[in-house]
Amino acid sequence: MRLLDTTLRDGEQTPGVALKPEDKLLIALKLEELGVDSIEAGFPIVSEGEFRAVKSIAREVSNSEVIALARTRREDIDKAIDADVNAIHIFIATSDLHMRYKLRMNREEVVEAAVNAVSYAKSHGLTVEFSAEDATRSDPKFLVRVFQEVVNAGADRLDIADTVGVMWPSKMASLVRFVRENVRGNYLLSVHCHDDFGMAVANSVAAIEAGADQAHGTINGVGERAGNAALEEIAAAVRFLLNYDVGIRFEKIKEVSDLVSKLFGIPVPPNKAIVGANAFSHESGIHVHGVLSNPLTYEPIDPGAVGMNRRIVVGKHSGRHSIIYVLKSMGIEPRDDIVSAVLRRVKELGDMGIRASEEDIKRIVMEVLNHGND
Ligand code: KIV
Ligand code: ZN
Repeated sequence: MRLLDTTLRDGEQTPGVALKPEDKLLIALKLEELGVDSIEAGFPIVSEGEFRAVKSIAREVSNSEVIALARTRREDIDKAIDADVNAIHIFIATSDLHMRYKLRMNREEVVEAAVNAVSYAKSHGLTVEFSAEDATRSDPKFLVRVFQEVVNAGADRLDIADTVGVMWPSKMASLVRFVRENVRGNYLLSVHCHDDFGMAVANSVAAIEAGADQAHGTINGVGERAGNAALEEIAAAVRFLLNYDVGIRFEKIKEVSDLVSKLFGIPVPPNKAIVGANAFSHESGIHVHGVLSNPLTYEPIDPGAVGMNRRIVVGKHSGRHSIIYVLKSMGIEPRDDIVSAVLRRVKELGDMGIRASEEDIKRIVMEVLNHGND
């Protein structure tokens, strides 16, 4: 399967976020190292800086496709062509709601605009991905009609955009199958999911399982409103649960996530899947005991497989195994009396709402040792 990263386009549409062209390039180079198939570098018509950013990414990136967004307007397509990208992502809305209230176009006009835009981009020798915006709230028969017409006009990839995140996995899978069964020709099928109901990753994975060839995503799930499907989560789920080849260098994921978090100014929530600080952390005594005997008891995959480390955290849920592990990792011999004292104090602190720090643990150990010398 293919992964198209849109951190630098849809991700940058996160309210309040604006990246400098040099920062966009830094992220693009990291995405290339990560091994994504396509990098959506931006929307060149938006501003001069955006155009320069897309052009510099197209110049510097050679191992991933660089794709730019365009409406069905010629000036958008020309601007993307001037930015020297390998591929162009043309979109137009296909739902009655968007056609009526946003585009103020009827169905025939939308079909015509889509076909003309795709033909024009193809006449310049570009790979063309066509997205039906708000596809998931469109009349499925009309969606299929638009898709068929753009495939006939030469579109290489079709993308079902769940623009406001209203799908759920079984419905997404049905729509993917419906498009596959009804649109004839040679094309790759993609999905682009938003997370308004927290199902963007699940919907993307369901789509892949139902036969889609590609999913769009953003690092850390950044994007408009509740964000886009998190690319690192789609990649990990498809690779480690469905066992598909995704061509991602998973050991780089954490680095890319950290860079995006820093440059976007958006912290990664600790409980975020795959890259969150707690994704492979354990506190409760039962879990720590299990993990120390066999990590698979409470970890779905080896943290090292996604560039993460296992952490054993002490707190009021800790048991003796955690304390022994932590003392050993601090170079302290886990004598029984020391373990008991540390465990007791850690729980007392926990009950007061305080997390015991390494300094606290050292202090307790010193107290026990000094007491023994009295
Ligand atoms: O969410 C959306 O519909 C988009 C399109 C441009 C594909 O981002
Ligand atoms: Zn989007």
